[in-house]
Amino acid sequence: MTLFQATHPASQLSGKNVVVTGASRGIGASTAQALADAGARVILIGRFRETLENVAGGLPNDPVTVVADLSDPAAPRAIVEQVKDAVGTIDVLVNNAGGGDAVGPTHTLRSEDADFLWALNLRAPVLLGGIVAHDMAANGGGSVISISSGLSQQGMPGVSLYSAVKGGLEAATRSLAAEWGPSGVRFNVVSPGVTRTELGSWITADDNAQRKYLEKVPLGRIGEPDDVAAAVLFLASPGGAYVTGQAIAVDGGWITTAPTLFPST
Ligand SMILES: NC(=O)c1ccc[n+]([C@@H]2O[C@H](COP(=O)([O-])OP(=O)(O)OC[C@H]3O[C@@H](n4cnc5c(N)ncnc54)[C@H](OP(=O)(O)O)[C@@H]3O)[C@@H](O)[C@H]2O)c1
Repeated sequence: MTLFQATHPASQLSGKNVVVTGASRGIGASTAQALADAGARVILIGRFRETLENVAGGLPNDPVTVVADLSDPAAPRAIVEQVKDAVGTIDVLVNNAGGGDAVGPTHTLRSEDADFLWALNLRAPVLLGGIVAHDMAANGGGSVISISSGLSQQGMPGVSLYSAVKGGLEAATRSLAAEWGPSGVRFNVVSPGVTRTELGSWITADDNAQRKYLEKVPLGRIGEPDDVAAAVLFLASPGGAYVTGQAIAVDGGWITTAPTLFPST
């Protein structure tokens, strides 16, 4: 029995269709598993059929895979059409796909990498969220959860554009929550700290970087993909019915903690 089966009624998302972008690995794959274990039928989105099928093969409730590159301007509308053809309606959207190479000293960044970063991490989740919300409103409501980053709240050298697009996603979420709340569609953000995935390996594969990071994490460990998935499950489920426009940090306390200024004893 998984953590989610043990702590949540298995039926709470029963009959719901849930779209998870970036579901081929990492946080997206864990989220797909958690939501499927809670009874949802999951539609997994990513760029490669084989990796999506590998994850889908372990899920209950007849999952569906849709291959799409979310940096493509046409992707949001094309995804919605394919999902509706396959399963009818969408009840929950998890905007999880993210990442990109536009990191490093800002004067060295290439504009094509910057364009990709914004397209994948901000344009796609906002446009996909808007299109999906329009349909959700006609069906009585729904929940959209986007995965941001603690770097949206805290400055760090080398991540100016990544911080900007994740901060933009949080700002857009507040406006989308205001726009669609009257139609019963909730918009929220889950904001991870360093999490043990391929993307997080720039810290977890470097002992020195990990040690420095953990000095500022009161809970004293790196996040796991399941930690993030648990917060997404809450926001997707009836238990989150009165929560909208929020960003929930899942980071062991990293974002709210400054290094101590007292001499060590
Ligand atoms: N891990 C961390 O430390 C951390 C911390 C804060 C925030 N986050 C955020 O959490 C989210 C998930 O990150 P992760 O750590 O799970 O990353 P990951 O292991 O690198 O997985 C990224 C996922 O996004 C998909 N993806 C990437 N580019 C795509 C594109 N152009 N079109 C469609 N799908 C695409 C990938 O699928 P394919 O490559 O198969 O297409 C993969 O499924 C991201 O939004 C990230 O910014 C992560």
